[in-house]
Amino acid sequence: MTIKVGVIGAMGKMGKEVVKTVINDPETELVCAVDKFGTGESVFGDIKVESDIKQALEAHKPDIVVDFTQPSTIFENAKLYLKSGVIPVIGTTGLKDSEINELKELSKSTGTGCFIAPNFAIGAVLMMMFSQTAAKYFNNAEIIELHHNQKKDAPSGTAIKTAQMMAEVNPNLQSGNIKDTEVINGARGALYQNSDKKGNINIHSVRMPGFVASQEVIFGAGGQILTIKHDTSNRECFMSGVIMAVKHMYKNNNFIFGLENIL
Ligand SMILES: NC(=O)c1ccc[n+]([C@@H]2O[C@H](COP(=O)([O-])OP(=O)(O)OC[C@H]3O[C@@H](n4cnc5c(N)ncnc54)[C@H](O)[C@@H]3O)[C@@H](O)[C@H]2O)c1
Repeated sequence: MTIKVGVIGAMGKMGKEVVKTVINDPETELVCAVDKFGTGESVFGDIKVESDIKQALEAHKPDIVVDFTQPSTIFENAKLYLKSGVIPVIGTTGLKDSEINELKELSKSTGTGCFIAPNFAIGAVLMMMFSQTAAKYFNNAEIIELHHNQKKDAPSGTAIKTAQMMAEVNPNLQSGNIKDTEVINGARGALYQNSDKKGNINIHSVRMPGFVASQEVIFGAGGQILTIKHDTSNRECFMSGVIMAVKHMYKNNNFIFGLENIL
């Protein structure tokens, strides 16, 4: 079995790692590489970077595409993959809840599987799962996420998904107990709430050179603080999750949101 994979965003920080991983895995074959940048350059042998996603899908017929592009285009890209019958494995963040729901419906109506994960690092997924467990026992929590300063969206998809998972098990979550006055706007971070306006969790986003992706989730109760923290030091940490999703989706045509669902 060889899975034909296309990498979209192939010249980016994540895309370059995915290209290497796909080439080095005996069960996957890189059939195309697409990016707006570096068009015509070779990423591997005769696989040259193309600029048009639709043309690349038609010409190379990948079984799966892995998308690490940018928040402003991912929704349109994802719709194109599903309408073309090509299963996407999406790492790009920035999709809104309403867009994720729309993609779920489109995946159902086209019969094309779709995998979306805001974080492919196993440690980060465990951090989210542990945070969900802790959220059952604490009513006060805040999230601090720290990323490199080229990141285009805030808060991170990981922070939003973590807050969502925590709010799912404890709608009484809150950040702080009294209504505070922000002397400088935004000082208390962004407030996450679920669709019922419950599960209040403040999210703080730090952007700084030197970070890849880190997150800490802080829980507090009388006389105690629990901190659950995950750090990454390079992008290799995301690759085992990406390849796991590619192999999983080759045999499945359902809609999956979150790596925790296939661990
Ligand atoms: N899910 C995860 O585990 C995970 C991990 C790290 C980063 N990310 C996310 O992945 C995305 C990419 O991150 P990055 O650090 O590699 O960014 P990057 O800016 O280094 O790379 C993005 C690449 O995509 C290309 N691109 C953008 N729009 C395109 C389009 N419409 N068609 C073709 N190419 C396009 C750009 O030219 C660029 O080369 C971001 O949303 C980031 O938050 C997710």
